[in-house]
Order: sequence, then C-alpha cells, then structure tokens
Amino acid sequence: MQVTVLNGVNLNMLGHRDPEQYGDMTLLQLETRIYEWAQELNMSARCSQTNHEGAYVDMIHEACSGTDALVVNPGAWSHYSYAIRDALEIFTGPIVEVHLSDIERREQWRRQTVISDVVSHRISGRGAEGYRDAFTYLAENAP
Ligand code: DQA
Repeated sequence: MQVTVLNGVNLNMLGHRDPEQYGDMTLLQLETRIYEWAQELNMSARCSQTNHEGAYVDMIHEACSGTDALVVNPGAWSHYSYAIRDALEIFTGPIVEVHLSDIERREQWRRQTVISDVVSHRISGRGAEGYRDAFTYLAENAP
C-alpha cells in the first residue's frame, strides 16, 4: 500500500515549537520514523510538508492518482480551511487525520476540525506515535 503523509503549516518547526504539545522531535526525525514504521508494516510512505495552503491542496490532488491512502496533519488549517476539506473530499481512499497534541483538550477553537466529515479516522494527542497508529489503522482497516 502506497501512503502519502502530508504535514501542513508550521510543522516544519517541530523541535522548536512547544514540546509539551508537540514533543521534541524535528520534522526530519519524525519523517525518518514514519518511513521505518511504514516499512515494518510492509507499506510504502511518501512524506511532504508545506506552509502554503494552495501547495497543500495541489499535493492532495496529486495523491488522487497513485496513492492508496492519506495521512494528514494540516496543522491550524484543520480548523478552518474549507479548501483543504474540499480537496480531501475528492480523494477516494481512506484518510487518517493526525494531530500530535490532544486538540479536544486545548483551546475551544482547536476542538473542531472542518475536515472531520471527510476523514475515515482521527488520532489526536498521541504525539509522534499517532503517525504509527495511523499506519496500523490503515493496515488493519484499508481494503
Ligand atoms: C496540530 C494541532 C493544531 O491545532 C495546530 O495548529 C498545529 C498542530 C497538532 O499536530 O497537534 O499546528 O495539528
């Protein structure tokens, strides 16, 4: 199974952001772990990150051909980007939404995401392990 992992705005700053919420791994360290976890499950991963909403939408469109499943952490866009929500709706495979922090126990504005109705599953508050959980979910649930 080919899985595309799309990290969004500000996630390139992991390692510099609040470690209590986001842990102390850098994005490079996180992506390295993701490639290892994917391999352990006999899956293939491709990771990308951008701070530009339109580029993120383009990445989702590109994933519509040749990718079996998506793992997405759009960062703050998760809470308000209908453009990203609509792009995800076009993707026909399973989508797992991941948040490093427990968004349901943080500020009110983080508790809702506008992508929740177009994803298959959400994992939040598990730190980097949440990405491993996403791959495990896909291995167990994807057709
Ligand atoms: C985040 C949670 C968002 O609320 C926040 O804006 C982020 C990261 C997370 O991974 O916990 O940038 O998606």
